[in-house]
Amino acid sequence: MPNRIAPPRIPSGEITPEAVFLRRREFLRGAAIVAGGALVGGCMGEDTASAVDATPAVAAGGNSDSDIDSALDYRPGPFATDEEHTSWEDATSYNNFYELGTDKDDPARNAHHLRTRPWSVAIEGEVAKPGRIGIEDLIRPHALEERVYRLRCVEAWSMVIPWVGFPLSDLLKRFDPTSRAKYVEFETLVDREQLPGQRRRVLDWPYREGLRMDEAMNPLAILAVGMYGKVLPNQNGAPLRLVVPWKYGFKSIKSIVTIRLREDPPPTSWNVSTPDEYGFFANVNPDVDHPRWSQARERRIGEFRKRPTLPFNGYGEQVASLYAGMDPRKLY
Ligand code: MTE
Repeated sequence: MPNRIAPPRIPSGEITPEAVFLRRREFLRGAAIVAGGALVGGCMGEDTASAVDATPAVAAGGNSDSDIDSALDYRPGPFATDEEHTSWEDATSYNNFYELGTDKDDPARNAHHLRTRPWSVAIEGEVAKPGRIGIEDLIRPHALEERVYRLRCVEAWSMVIPWVGFPLSDLLKRFDPTSRAKYVEFETLVDREQLPGQRRRVLDWPYREGLRMDEAMNPLAILAVGMYGKVLPNQNGAPLRLVVPWKYGFKSIKSIVTIRLREDPPPTSWNVSTPDEYGFFANVNPDVDHPRWSQARERRIGEFRKRPTLPFNGYGEQVASLYAGMDPRKLY
C-alpha cells in the first residue's frame, strides 16, 4: 500500500450540512427511481430491479476491507479543473457498479461483500513481460498524483472528482508492449460471493472495457487507487479502476483484475449488450444523442439547473486529435 501520512484533505467548502445532505439523498433516490422506472436507466439493460438482496447498510463510503479512512501520499497532478468538487457523500453513495446492484445506492450498501486484499492483476497478451502482480507491487513504483476530473455519465449526470492515481501509460510501459499491441482490454473480478450482482445476468460478466493503444497512452488516462485523498471505496472501484475523463463513465471500469494487450479490438460489455446504444469509443459528445435521451445537457450532481455538455467532456485540447477523420456525428 502507498504510504499513509497526512489526514484526508477535504476542503471545508465541500462539507455538506447534514440536513442538506439528507434532502439531497432523498432527491437522488427519487431521481434514481425515475431513472429506473421511466427512462430505464442509462447504462442499463432491460431489467432494472436491484440485483442484490438488501443487506445491512454500511455508512456511505464505509467498509472495513478498503480501510478508506487511510490517507494517501500524493502530489497535485496536471489537467485539474477548478470547478467545485462533488461532495464525498454524493460521490460514494450515488454509484453505478452493477456487480453490487443496479440501484444507485446498492453499491455503497453492498460494498462490504468485496475484499480488496489480497488482490492481483494479470497483465497479459501482447507484452514482452507478461505476469500476475500483487496490487501493492503494481502501485509501489508509481508516484501518486491528484487528478481533479469531470466525470460525465451517459445517463446525463456528472460529477467533479479529485482522483488519486497514476498514468495508465506508465504501468503499460513496465510490461513492454509489443509492436502488435493496438488495443488494451480490461476485466473486472468475477466472483458471485463478493460481487453478488453477478448472480444475475444483467450483463455478460465479467464487465469488460477497452481502449485503443493511443488512447491508453494519453496522459489524461489514469488508473485510480484513491479519491478525495483517501483509499478508493469499494463502491467506486477499489482497489484499481480506470479513469478516462473524455469518455462516458461506463468506460471507467472498476475493480480491475486483468489488463490484456491485443492486436484486435476487445469486446466491451455495453457495446456487446446493446450495440445500437453504446459504442466502443464512447467519447462525450453533446451533438450525438443517445437513442433514448439527449446528450446536449447534463445535471451536475448537487445542482438543480442543467448545464451544457462539452465535447470530449471539456478535454478536446488533449484528445480531439486522436479522432481526426472520424465522423463526429456517428455513434462510436
Ligand atoms: N465498472 C464495473 N465493473 N461495473 C459497472 O457497473 N459502471 C460504469 C463505470 N464502471 C460500472 C463500472 C458506469 S455506467 C459509470 S457511470 C461509472 O463506473 C460510475 O462510477 P462511480 O460510481 O464511481 O461514479
